[in-house]
Order: sequence, then C-alpha cells, then structure tokens
Amino acid sequence: MSSGLPKHIAIIMDGNGRWAERRGRPRIYGHIKGCGRVREIIREADRLGIKQLTLYAFSTENWGRPTAEVTVLMQLLKKWLIRERRELIKRNIRFRAIGNLERLPMDARKLVRESEELSAGNTGLELTFALSYSGRDEIIDAAKSLARRAMNGELLPEDINQEIFSMELDTVALRDPDLLIRTSGEQRISNFMLWQMAYTEFYFTDTMWPDFRAVNLRLAIDSYTRRERRFGLTSSKIEATI
Ligand code: FPP
Repeated sequence: MSSGLPKHIAIIMDGNGRWAERRGRPRIYGHIKGCGRVREIIREADRLGIKQLTLYAFSTENWGRPTAEVTVLMQLLKKWLIRERRELIKRNIRFRAIGNLERLPMDARKLVRESEELSAGNTGLELTFALSYSGRDEIIDAAKSLARRAMNGELLPEDINQEIFSMELDTVALRDPDLLIRTSGEQRISNFMLWQMAYTEFYFTDTMWPDFRAVNLRLAIDSYTRRERRFGLTSSKIEATI
C-alpha cells in the first residue's frame, strides 16, 4: 500500500557554498541564490496542499563558520523576513522558528518573533525555520525541563513516556516529519530533528539547493508516495489498522 501526500516535509537545504565555488564565485553568492529557492519551494508546497514544511536554515554548528559568512546569512534571514512577511499573510501561512533563538542577533530575533506573531492566526501551511538549531541540544533541554518538573513534584520519573517527552520539544506544535529531503548529495541528517525523525522517510538528491526547483520537490514527493511505510509493522498489520 503506497503512502499518500506527506503532511510534513522537512528539508536540509545543502550545497549553496559548493554550488557557488563551482562557478568561481564566493560562497555567499550561493546563499543568495539559495534564498530565492526558499520562496519557490514554499509556494509549491502550499500549492500542493502540504500541511507543514520545516526548513533547516542555520544549525548551531554553523556559528563556527567564518564571521563574514555568518553575518551574510543573518542579513539574508532578516531581508527574507522583511520581504516575505506580506506573502505569508497573503497565503495564510503560519510562520514559526525553532532552535536556540537567543543566540540570534537581536534585530533578527525581533523580526522572527514579529513574523510569528503576525502570522499566528493563519490556518494554512505551517512553515517552520530551524535557526541556531541542534537536535541534541533540543533533547537535552527537554530532559532538563522534565528533571526540573520531577524535582518540583509535578511528575514522577516513571510517568515520563514518549508523548510527555515530545511535548517538551521545540516541535510540540508539529507532527513528526513524513519526508526528509536533503540536497547536494550528502547522506546524513546533521543533528536535525533527531527525535522526530524516528520513522521519517529519507530522500537524498545530488541537486544543489540553488538548483532545487518546484519540479524537484514534486519528484521527491512522488518517490515518497510510492513507498510503503510500515512503522516497524508488517504490510498486513498496517492495512488492518487503517
Ligand atoms: C547549506 O549550504 C546552507 C546553509 C548553511 C544555509 C541555508 C541558507 C539558505 C538557503 C539561505 C538563507 C535563507 C533563509 C531564508 C534563511 P552550505 O553552505 O553548507 O553548502 P556547502 O555544503 O556546499 O558548503
């Protein structure tokens, strides 16, 4: 039995730097081009009726890049939020950010918060940017929070289960991703939504992010819809539960 349309797609937008270097251009040029693709992919996901789209825009590890590159990425984020806010409202898209937002420059953080507030009532596509995000840090923060609650007598350690743990994560409002796409030929998840991807289907493509167009998104979705997701069960068991 094939899977229907994925409800939640997560994307690791990789390959901007190599895309630019292959053209003899600075890495920053790749990020600028990559930024343009973000809009196209959001529009296509929206058009196709995808419910949730999560984009890995900046990892905690990315803070270790040269200062000039980090500065440009932050500027691109700010420009994007200023430019696209109207589009989010027009398309009824709800914007959220996950990650350690405290580390973002104050002006970027302010724009992120404003965009979240401005679109909080929107009921269409739920768009999430992972910014200064680390899957392992997210899990550690959840464990700390549960430990604090146990110490305060709010819950017993024995009561902690997957559902309670999930509710402590940044992604509390999101379902687990059905499909993860990573561009640029790399085949790893790089600290992205480690807990949430337990049963996510992976799609790796050699296409670099600046070349990733609407048609490429449709190809990834086609690949997903042809797969059978069994969640550790057998085909007959899955069919019996539907
Ligand atoms: C990976 O390419 C990409 C990033 C680290 C940042 C992703 C950023 C964008 C798509 C542009 C910013 C847009 C918004 C709206 C936040 P890479 O530099 O790791 O490429 P490489 O693996 O070839 O070096």
